[in-house]
Parts: sequence; structure tokens; C-alpha cells
Amino acid sequence: MSEETVRRESVAVVGCGHVGATSAYALMLSGVTREIVLLDADARRAEGEAMDLQQAVALSRPVEVRAGDWRDAARASVAVIAAGVGGRPGESRLDLLGRNVVVVREVIRKLLDEGFGGVVLMTTNPVDVLSQFAQEDSGLPVERVIGSGTVLDSARLRAMLGDELGVEPRSVHAHVIGEHGDSEIAAWSSARVAGVPLREFCEASGLACPDFDALLARVRRAAPDIIERKGYTSYAIASCVARICEAVLRDEHSVLPVSTRLTGQYGISDVYLSLPCVVGRRGVERVVEIPLDERELEGLRASAELLRRTAAGVRGK
Ligand SMILES: NC(=O)c1ccc[n+]([C@@H]2O[C@H](COP(=O)([O-])OP(=O)(O)OC[C@H]3O[C@@H](n4cnc5c(N)ncnc54)[C@H](O)[C@@H]3O)[C@@H](O)[C@H]2O)c1
Repeated sequence: MSEETVRRESVAVVGCGHVGATSAYALMLSGVTREIVLLDADARRAEGEAMDLQQAVALSRPVEVRAGDWRDAARASVAVIAAGVGGRPGESRLDLLGRNVVVVREVIRKLLDEGFGGVVLMTTNPVDVLSQFAQEDSGLPVERVIGSGTVLDSARLRAMLGDELGVEPRSVHAHVIGEHGDSEIAAWSSARVAGVPLREFCEASGLACPDFDALLARVRRAAPDIIERKGYTSYAIASCVARICEAVLRDEHSVLPVSTRLTGQYGISDVYLSLPCVVGRRGVERVVEIPLDERELEGLRASAELLRRTAAGVRGK
């Protein structure tokens, strides 16, 4: 059998800090791939994480976890980019742009130099602007450069809503959309529990309707609240990475609010931000235009404008 025939499908994780290493662990536990390749600017770190993870394999699922090089990363079906710096207390995600744009451009160039043919899953912040730069610099098709976007924020919102409404979060359908950051909004008008709009669900259940503004503020504060306490975030984003990789590798056509380049949805074009997207083998297969009320529409457009200005500011330098 040729090497090509027996070649296993793999996920590459570039950047093995808190996010990258925990994502590798979540991927290992999920069992969606038979091979995980780790890379870091600090090669010893990648080796150490790979050794540690590999020693857990006997207790989880068959998967080979190893440190690799750019050639290995380039043949992965999904390259998760988690390289760069994280936010320090008091910094917004957009504050990280100057430092991380250099890192992401270098990573993308190295992947392309080795003929990368898979899907890029960006997590490095600010994730929307960096996904956009990665796509534009690489010339890869838009569908193949995805940002983890507001999958994390939506998971946080669903967990909080589930808690308030006394139902488990997977039964709550609610999306945070726009920037993964301070200008994101919640699409309240399309949020549902058991197919029932939130206000109606609360009325029918005899519950007080949650304070929507306060909940969104908690979602926006979630990362800084954690960073103030433990210095970084890792588990929830790692679960999002594993979930998005699963949707791609299993060609699931799952609807996930990932970051992609808009092409006229809600009158917005040529900017990366999150909306519910159908995600499968090819990456983002299509964007789902959910109904939004006037206030939500205004918020989404303002978020897009902020991202556009931020990207233009960096390009202008
Ligand atoms: N998208 C999200 O929802 C989300 C959530 C949490 C964190 N993040 C972001 O993820 C990124 C990583 O966060 P972290 O806490 O893991 O940081 P970290 O500092 O723990 O790890 C970053 C790693 O990247 C490596 N690195 C730096 N430059 C590199 C290069 N050129 N090539 C390869 N590796 C390189 C570093 O050596 C380090 O190991 C940050 O930008 C953070 O803001 C995103």
C-alpha cells in the first residue's frame, strides 16, 4: 500500500499554549481524528505537550499525538491556529492585533509554503480580523478560512440562559453574532427553547423573563472575568475547537456561529464576523440569515463597521 493510501487524517494545532494544548486534549477526548500534530515556536514546548498527551491515550481513544513540522501541518485536514499572545487583564481583544498579526501572517505563509490543502481554523485574537487577514493573504477560498468566532460566546449565552430557565443549554437555541468581542450582540428575537420564543417560553413556564441586556453584558465580560482570576481562558474555547473540527471532519453540515467573510448578508460585505453558518467538510458551506429586529440589525452593522475600521487601520500601517 502506498504512503498516500495509508495516510491518516490529521488535525494540526499551531501554538501550544493554554488554548492550543487544551484544544489538543479536547480533540483527543472527542475521538474525531486519528492524528494530532503539535507545533510551536518553542519546539520543546510542543514536544512536551505531545508527550504528556500521548501518555493519556491508553485511557482515552486511539490517536497519535506528536510534535511535527510545517510539512506535517500542511497535510492536515484542519490547521487550528492558536499561536500568539493572549489578553492581559484590562486589554481588549482588539488590543492584541498589532502583536498577533505578525504571528498569524508568518504561520499562514509557512503552511502555504508547504502546500496546505485543508481548512484553517483561527482562534488567535482578535479572531475576526486575523481570520480576514489570513484569508486575504493566503488567497485560500473564503470557505476554508474559518474563525472560531462567537461559537464560544453563544455557548456561554446558552449556558447562562439554561441556568436561568431551568433547562439544559443544548435545548436552548440562541446565537451571539458579530465580532467575537465587545461589540458582539445577541440575536434575542430568534432565540428559542423547544422551538418557543424566549418571552413566550417564560410566560408559559411562569418564569420571569431574563434581563437580556444584563445577560449579554455577562457574556461580554466572561473572558475578562476569567482572565482576572486565572490569567487566561482555555477549556471552553478548546471545546469549541473540538466541536468545529468535528463538524468539518465528519462533514456534519452543523449550524455553528463561526466567523466568515460576509457577501451582502444584512447589507454587509467584505468583513469577517460571526453569523450562524452551515459547517462541513469544505468549511463554511453557507451563511444562515436569521431574522433580526431593528435594534439587532443596528448592532450587527455597528459591529461590522468597527471590524472594518480596525482591519483598515492595520492595513494602512
Ligand atoms: N477565539 C477565542 O474564543 C479565544 C479564546 C481564548 C483565547 N484566544 C486567543 O488564543 C491565543 C492564544 O492564547 P493562549 O492563552 O494559548 O496564549 P499562550 O501565550 O499560552 O500561547 C501562545 C503560544 O503561541 C506560541 N507562538 C507564538 N508565536 C508563534 C509562532 N510564530 N509560531 C508558532 N507558535 C507561536 C507561543 O510559543 C505560545 O506557546 C490568544 O490570541 C488568545 O487571545 C482566543
